[in-house]
Amino acid sequence: MKNIEIATNIIVCDYNELTDIQKKLVTQAKEACRTAYAPYSQFNVGAAALLDNDQIISGSNQENAAYPSGTCAERTTLFYAGAKYPDNAVTKLAIAAYKGDAFTATPTAPCGACRQVILETEHRYKTPIEIILYGEEKTYIITSIESLLPLCFGKTDLE
Ligand code: THU
Repeated sequence: MKNIEIATNIIVCDYNELTDIQKKLVTQAKEACRTAYAPYSQFNVGAAALLDNDQIISGSNQENAAYPSGTCAERTTLFYAGAKYPDNAVTKLAIAAYKGDAFTATPTAPCGACRQVILETEHRYKTPIEIILYGEEKTYIITSIESLLPLCFGKTDLE
């Protein structure tokens, strides 16, 4: 028997340390929180995706009285990006969340289902997606979803 240790690298930084494009994506993710339809959780999430044609697509969580019928900001955004620009890779994805009367102090990480969809998007375009998780007090940068989804199941498993 032996152990396998899986290390995950997460960059922790302040908003001010982000590059211009990262700041722009965070700003659009924060703005997208305003479009959330979250009457059940009151947790407004926004996401903004940068495509390799320099387009930015943003989206928000859209809830439903039949809870599982709703969807997260990340999936709203990535599915719309895929539907609108099927030939363009997503290269960066910023996420922000607003609760009560403020953006969250710590970063909001994507749920398991969204991690799987981000993984599929990386594999679909053979391009890693830099993920920027915004928080008022600190921001995380992750260079690929594989850091958040070790031992992942993806399309290559079916080949
Ligand atoms: N949610 C997102 O949109 N993205 C996340 O990363 C975490 C959770 C949404 C789903 C639901 O509408 C609300 O936040 C509470 O879970």
